[in-house]
Amino acid sequence: MAKVVKFYETGAPEVLRFEDVEVGEPGPGEVRLRHVAVGLNFADTYFRSGIYPVPLPSGIGNEAAGVVEAVGAGVSDFVVGDRVTYTGFTNTLGAYSTERLISAAPLIKLPEGISCETAAAMTMRGLSASYLCRRIYPFQGGETILLHAAAGGVGLIVSQWAKLLGLNVIGTVSTEAKAEVARAHGCDHIINYSHEDVAKRVREITNGVGVSVVFDSVGKDTFMSSLDSLKRRGLLVCVGTASGKIPPFDPAILARKGSAYITRPGLADYIADPAEKAELVGELFGHVAAGRIRIEINQRYALNDAVQAHRDLEGRKTTGSSIFVI
Ligand SMILES: NC(=O)c1ccc[n+]([C@@H]2O[C@H](COP(=O)([O-])OP(=O)(O)OC[C@H]3O[C@@H](n4cnc5c(N)ncnc54)[C@H](OP(=O)(O)O)[C@@H]3O)[C@@H](O)[C@H]2O)c1
Repeated sequence: MAKVVKFYETGAPEVLRFEDVEVGEPGPGEVRLRHVAVGLNFADTYFRSGIYPVPLPSGIGNEAAGVVEAVGAGVSDFVVGDRVTYTGFTNTLGAYSTERLISAAPLIKLPEGISCETAAAMTMRGLSASYLCRRIYPFQGGETILLHAAAGGVGLIVSQWAKLLGLNVIGTVSTEAKAEVARAHGCDHIINYSHEDVAKRVREITNGVGVSVVFDSVGKDTFMSSLDSLKRRGLLVCVGTASGKIPPFDPAILARKGSAYITRPGLADYIADPAEKAELVGELFGHVAAGRIRIEINQRYALNDAVQAHRDLEGRKTTGSSIFVI
């Protein structure tokens, strides 16, 4: 019998239930996938807590890698035995499972050099880093960026990629241990935002100029200091809201912050076009397979430890990527 994690009401990690499930045979356009590893992403907590509303009961998780066990009618791109990975949004919910049926559309074939564990640790986080570094801003090399939560899953990949682009990286972290991790993955400067004034430190580091781009996945707690860290006509990229939603603001504030730009991007809009998705996947897999970007799996859990895994992620106890090993 396959196992699945579901939730029947939104709330704290304890709403997650570990259950048996009958998977059945794939319908037209679907495959049956046996998961080898499943990604644990901060976005999963938004679904669980209700920040991203979904009809209940619901499966959870949007990233996993495994082996195709059966293919439905009309599936021509995959055969039994293929190793694949996927990520998505509401279209892929249900990744926290040992086996599942899934549309073949979001599946990506894994090359030889990339294991299922690595894939589950980077398909969402790495593709996000890919579009953040390669699509959001026309980096020429030499720019300085501010990267919040630099020791996190997305953070460690973005910092390494930013160095490949020749950027100067200022990373924020909440502890000295995380500072070491972030430094080891390319951050040139570290600000501990649990006790340092971020905007003031950024001005010191940049000789008063500010940064070209801020990647802010923290949200509520950092929004204002992120705006205050930008150089004139800089770009604030609101990547996520780990500390809570950003309160409504008057766009006139952007004029007062040096004619700043703001974007709130989502991965789905950068991988909707199959050709663009293939390009971003190709760049990511190329960097990882060649060892130019290391995917750090610093937490491994069993699927029936999903409650603890969510507590750890929300409790800021993790660094790098977290996965469930099936
Ligand atoms: N827009 C997109 O396309 C996209 C795609 C993927 C991920 N994301 C976003 O990127 C962010 C990172 O995702 P991830 O899965 O890699 O998670 P993560 O960065 O590994 O974990 C979140 C980190 O945020 C920091 N943080 C700051 N304030 C926090 C608070 N009040 N509560 C909890 N954490 C807090 C913590 O680092 P410190 O202890 O160092 O502060 C924590 O470790 C998330 O916001 C996620 O939603 C966005």
